[in-house]
Order: sequence, then C-alpha cells, then structure tokens
Amino acid sequence: MKGRNFLTLLDYTPDEIRQLLALAAQVKNEKKNGIFPERLKHKNIVLLFEKTSTRTRCAFETAGYDEGARVTFLSNSQMGKKESLEDTAKVLGRFYDGIEFRGFKQETVELLAKHSGVPVWNGLTDLYHPTQVLADLLTISEHVDKPLNQVHFVFVGDARNNMGNSLMIGCAKMGMHFTALAPKSLFPGEELTARMRELCKKTGGEITLTENVADVKGADVIYTDVWVSMGEEDKYAERIKLLLPYRVDRRMLDLTENPDVKFMHCLPSFHDLETAVGRSVYETYGLEEMEVTDEVFRSVNSIVFDEAENRMHTIKAVMLATMTDILD
Ligand code: CP
Ligand code: NVA
Repeated sequence: MKGRNFLTLLDYTPDEIRQLLALAAQVKNEKKNGIFPERLKHKNIVLLFEKTSTRTRCAFETAGYDEGARVTFLSNSQMGKKESLEDTAKVLGRFYDGIEFRGFKQETVELLAKHSGVPVWNGLTDLYHPTQVLADLLTISEHVDKPLNQVHFVFVGDARNNMGNSLMIGCAKMGMHFTALAPKSLFPGEELTARMRELCKKTGGEITLTENVADVKGADVIYTDVWVSMGEEDKYAERIKLLLPYRVDRRMLDLTENPDVKFMHCLPSFHDLETAVGRSVYETYGLEEMEVTDEVFRSVNSIVFDEAENRMHTIKAVMLATMTDILD
C-alpha cells in the first residue's frame, strides 16, 4: 500500500481493509507493551484543517510522534484564499511525506492527492470519514464476539451524512448487515446505496433502509452521530423535528432484545448540557439531550471511549501502510 492515498474506503478492497485492521491491532498491542519502533523517523507530515477537531488531529499527532515522525498542524494557510489547491499541493509535496486534510469538499482532498505526489489521508469531508470507520470496525471486532460478517450494525439518525455514507461502505465491504434507521428524507443517497447493494452480492453483506424503530431488533451495534454536521449549522430546527423520534434511548436498546448490544458514536456528542451548542439548543428548543440520552451514553453498553482511542491506532496503521513498505 506504500504511496497510496486514503481518501475513501471505496478505494480499498475488503482484504486491504482487513490488513489495515490487523496492523492497527498490532500497533495497539505494541504501544500497550511500550514498544515504539519509530518506523516514521525522518518523515514529515502536515495536517490541514478547515473544520474543527479533537480526535482526528490528536490521533494523527500522537500516532505520528509514536512512530518518530515530525508533525505540522496547519489551519490558516494560503490554500484556496491566496493560492490555488494545485499550487498548495505542489508546495506541500516538496516539504512533506504525507498530508492529512479535514474540510468541506471531497474534491479538495482529491486535488491534494492528484498534485502533491505524496500520500494524502482524508480526515473528514462533507462526504466521507474513512479513518473513523476503520476505528469503528476495530472496536466492533474487539467488543462483539462474532466475526464481522455476522454483525448486525444499525446506524440511527442522519444517515446521508459523511458517517452514514462511510459506515455503509465499510459494512458492505466487510460483509456485514448494515441498517440505516432514519426518516426517508435522510436515507443514504440512492446511487451509493445501489452500488453498495451490488457489492454486498460479493461480500455477503446486506443493506436495509428503514424508518421503523422496531427494526433495531437483533442489532449487535447501535451507532449514532450528531443530527447536524459541521457546515450545516442552519439546519437545527429541521433536523430536530425529523430526528427526535430517532434519539437513542434505553427503550431503543431494549427493542434490540440484545442485552449486550453496543452503543457507538464517533463523537463529539450532545448527550447533556455541558457544551455551548447543547445549551444554545436547550434555550431555543428545550432539548436537554439530542441524538443520545445521557443514560445510554454513560451506560455499560457504551463503548464510545474505546472507539475514540482506536482512532489513534488505526490512523497509525494508515500512515504506516501508505508511507512505508510494512504491508507490501
Ligand atoms: N470523530 C471525530 O472525527 O472527532 P473530531 O471531530 O474531534 O476529530
Ligand atoms: N457528521 C459529523 C462527524 C463528526 C466527526 C460532522 O461532520 O460534523
């Protein structure tokens, strides 16, 4: 995989995804045992951020430092303002051995990949969040006592956002049963769904789109994300109306009839009033919690912080796979 970009899971075969997950498990184990082989020594990486982040930035930084890389965080560059994407990519490609990008358009990360000549990693765009899905798959494999291709995974909420898209792709690639539970207007796009259903014919996966909360029955994992993604801040009123019936609460977990059902969330999450946005939503709409209740978020079913930690191990695997010959 040396020299490859990581822009969307669509570009990776099931076998390559399995190799990345195995490498992530290996580097996680190494770190837990204090083994730091510094396989990225003398590599420079740059992290470009148009949108805010805690996990993705810190995962790239810590993973990079663990492996001996040097890291630049850049959120105020000339890119797109005084300098074209193409020129920026050409400059950064001269300085750096790898580029991470988080921002709005998928096209931006594609252009950086096209013109920089070094591996480019997608740290979230409006369309996809592939590094998150690798962490999610690793977390499921650690917590659900079944092979991935027997797991019934339910994504609840805004199923046409970057997480809905990327999780549908990840689950289809791994041969999982993916259910999107959402109001019809927030179902994943028809074209991507059709493409993933076609892929499922080969991988043994299954894709269900439903508006009916009772369809969580038999789920191994209930996953949700914020109702309003970064860049859509004018949509609170509309989304709250549409998604209130889809809040993940104790009742929804009970409907799975699986006492071991796992709750997952890519984070950050609005499960209490401890955030400025949460308080502002409370003042305007009277909601104390949004996509998940505080009870479920803090319950024994919740594995959200193991999931967050796995961002670091899986991102380390992606950097090692694409900047070294470790998987070649
Ligand atoms: N899950 C995730 O991408 O978190 P950040 O927005 O904090 O990077
Ligand atoms: N869908 C969310 C994911 C955050 C990690 C967003 O784009 O804001």
